[in-house]
Amino acid sequence: MGGARRRAAPTRGADGRTHGAAPHESLLVHGDNLAAMTAMLPERAGQFRAIYIDPPFNTGRAFAEYDDARSTHEWASFMRPRLALARELLADDGALFAEIDDTELATLTLLLDEVFGRESRVSTVTVVRSAPTGHKAINAGPVNVTDFLLVYAKDRAKLRLAPQLRARRPYDDAYKTWIDNPGDPPAAWRFRPIARAVAEHLGHDGPAAARRALGGPEFAAFTRRFAVEHAPHVVRFAQPRYEAISQKARALVDRSRAEPDRVFVLRRGALPDFVVRGGNRVLFLAKKVRVIGGVPTLVEPLTNVWDDVPFQGIAREGGVAFVRNKKPERLLARVLAMATEPGDWVLDPFAGSGTTAAVALKMGRRFVAIEEGAHAFTLAEPRLARVVRGEDPTGITTEVGFAGGGGFRVVDA
Ligand SMILES: C[S@@+](CC[C@H](N)C(=O)[O-])C[C@H]1O[C@@H](n2cnc3c(N)ncnc32)[C@H](O)[C@@H]1O
Repeated sequence: MGGARRRAAPTRGADGRTHGAAPHESLLVHGDNLAAMTAMLPERAGQFRAIYIDPPFNTGRAFAEYDDARSTHEWASFMRPRLALARELLADDGALFAEIDDTELATLTLLLDEVFGRESRVSTVTVVRSAPTGHKAINAGPVNVTDFLLVYAKDRAKLRLAPQLRARRPYDDAYKTWIDNPGDPPAAWRFRPIARAVAEHLGHDGPAAARRALGGPEFAAFTRRFAVEHAPHVVRFAQPRYEAISQKARALVDRSRAEPDRVFVLRRGALPDFVVRGGNRVLFLAKKVRVIGGVPTLVEPLTNVWDDVPFQGIAREGGVAFVRNKKPERLLARVLAMATEPGDWVLDPFAGSGTTAAVALKMGRRFVAIEEGAHAFTLAEPRLARVVRGEDPTGITTEVGFAGGGGFRVVDA
């Protein structure tokens, strides 16, 4: 059994302890995940919308809590039956997210292809976990700063993932045109350079005077912030790709070239309006701005490179120290936002310090978290108990407006 060959002696006697409010459906299970998942199968097959696994990476290291050195063959033999059980427990419309570094990336990909089928592979996400600073920079060769998140569907045709947006930086300076009166009909819109509108807003005669008064870089930075805060006024022009637009749209572009000062609008049913001026499409900054934490923020669709989830500064998250192993709550929040809805079940068979379960509680999901080490009791249980009591202000607590609540039971596998 188990991933750890050298670990603290198991602490028994937790069976049935509860924290927080009934019905205590969520579970923190102490024991080997192979035994625990096997026991769950008769009642819980197909129940979990999301399964996050963060197994020992086979780094060759010995951590305080567990050993992490096997041959690749042994590691694969350890993982294979656990992945097969995870697949059985996954809902038909659910997804499994497996975190790994490059040591066993290839092994895990092949194992998951074998268990789930190559056609069920959804994405290989590169997660940037550190910067090339300090001692790492003096190693020969490229500095290793990434983990990977392998995403598999139980059934790609049924998979439901909510599209995600992420904060975008830097500002796209092509959005440099201001409409004074975007609330009026397009034919009446008055356009001018955004720098002029911002300068006048600041009480200057024009951009040159504003730059002299504020300094060039400061004025540029202010203008970008102002644009995002007043996004309905801000547009850019883009040449339409003839081959990618309909015949009607092409005809409109041609007309607009002939009458360059007039705004033309093609209504397209469910699709956004096709707006043209001077032969160019008019693109609206407002489509790229969302209010995040009360602040208008420039966003873009999430790609398979996640370099915006800080791993630095998480040492105190959850009030538990789990050096090198703990994952950021924000990472799990993104996974759960993408793959689950409130009330859904989430499984984490390698729970460690309980990050997935803590995030599930804060986001109103139900969970089963399995951990065989004694840190199930010394780290995960007290962390989760603090979360339900509303005593954990760290991680995503403020972002999701969580003030405590929920409950869970601690059981032996
Ligand atoms: C990388 S850590 C997980 C860290 C976790 N994501 C967090 O944020 O705290 C891997 C965990 O898997 C646990 N583990 C290893 N083999 C296991 C097994 N067979 N059954 C249950 N847990 C196991 C280890 O004790 C360790 O806590």
